Amino acid sequence: MSNRRVFVLGGANTAFIGKGSPDFIWKNHPDFGKRENPTLEQLLKSAVDQCLEVTGADPAEVQRGYIGNFVGELFSKQGHLGAALAGSHPSFAYKPMTRTEGACASGGLAMLCAVDAIRAGTDVVIVAGVEVQTTESARVGADYLARASHYARQRSIDEFTFPALFGRRAKAYREQYGVTEEDIGRAAVKAYGNANKNPLAHMRARKMDLDTAAAASEKNPCFLQNAEYAPFIKMSDCSQVSDGASAMILVSEEGLRKLGKSLSDTIEIIGTGHSTASLYEDSDPVVLSTSAHAIGQAYKDAGITVANVNIAEVHDCFTVTELLMYEAMGMCDIGKAGHLLRDGVTDIGGRLPVNTGGGLVGFGHPVGATGVKQSIEIWRQMKGLAGGYQVPGAPAVGLSVNMGGDDRTVVVGVYKNQG
Ligand code: CAA
Repeated sequence: MSNRRVFVLGGANTAFIGKGSPDFIWKNHPDFGKRENPTLEQLLKSAVDQCLEVTGADPAEVQRGYIGNFVGELFSKQGHLGAALAGSHPSFAYKPMTRTEGACASGGLAMLCAVDAIRAGTDVVIVAGVEVQTTESARVGADYLARASHYARQRSIDEFTFPALFGRRAKAYREQYGVTEEDIGRAAVKAYGNANKNPLAHMRARKMDLDTAAAASEKNPCFLQNAEYAPFIKMSDCSQVSDGASAMILVSEEGLRKLGKSLSDTIEIIGTGHSTASLYEDSDPVVLSTSAHAIGQAYKDAGITVANVNIAEVHDCFTVTELLMYEAMGMCDIGKAGHLLRDGVTDIGGRLPVNTGGGLVGFGHPVGATGVKQSIEIWRQMKGLAGGYQVPGAPAVGLSVNMGGDDRTVVVGVYKNQG
């Protein structure tokens, strides 16, 4: 493999919005009827413009682009998003731009394509991700998102297919390891608490305390119809149905010179992992084996172990997923992740802060943008740009884990801060 180095020069996220966000226009909003929520086209352009501004990259130097998106055709009646990226800035005209799709890992795949392109000789690449999901109700949206499962076999598990698939995992995890609802509820409290410090987060204005997160109630109901899994997923356990976009610039050393930037502006991608598992089979519900495989591959690629990681962004599509991710990372034995949350290990001030901006539960989950957002968040933390949720000190090594479907497609990045 080529030994060309790959750097994240920087990037930007739009606000992630949807139901529960003060910025989201819906029938009780004071601006209802006066203005509308941004479209996919507007979100993408906004992320690209902000990315170019934040990085100071000359768009004329961008040689190619990749964009992650899962189901633009369904929510926005818009496919062909490589051409949408080309249309998001005049300087991108006629440059090669490609869409990547791997369900909720679509953004991570866009990053991986850019890494490959740079290793193959390209110097400056734009990586974007976008998803709009609020054009339909959560129930109709759940049917669209269910296309990330094996639809023919798994759609009937519940109208909310993905919450039910992770209800299955939560049930097995709790029953096999004596994990309590409170252990898992702490992940929601952390996610909302971090989001409350993040002005771009979907749940920036919603509070979550442990009493609410640890037991079903009228304001935090179990909502599945599937009687077996219903008790194991409440509203507060779910990632948000968000609209949003993210964009970042990846460069080679030569690209850095072309853009007049220095190494200290960047973080280096020192390792990657990419694993896929069969769509047609279920795996052990208490282990994210595909994630563990991809993480192991990325550690090996980077020459690190979990002990070296100072900050992480993991795919908490549901609260239980965050606990299973800690275990897939090797932070603790199987069944023990609850202790890490209880001891504050993954809090902003903890030994290994995870999902500092709120993760998918708090920051939000515009599916195609999520994987790109994760890399940008690591860059922002390493460069001291995370504002009210900045971790103390500058983390040296970071990890991102972006998962598609029920642990079917996983993309991992390992990042090293450049001083
Ligand atoms: N009591 C009982 N039931 C209630 C209730 C209450 N107080 N309030 C709501 N409900 C039930 C109702 O049945 C309601 O549906 P209807 O209105 O159609 O009857 C249902 O819950 C949903 O309620 P809302 O539409 O009001 O809720 P919402 O819009 O706030 O959505 C949510 C809440 C359903 C949890 C939604 O946020 C959600 O679906 N989140 C998960 C999103 C998701 O699955 N993303 C993909 C993650 S998986 C991944 O990342 C991998 C991949 O590749 C896909």
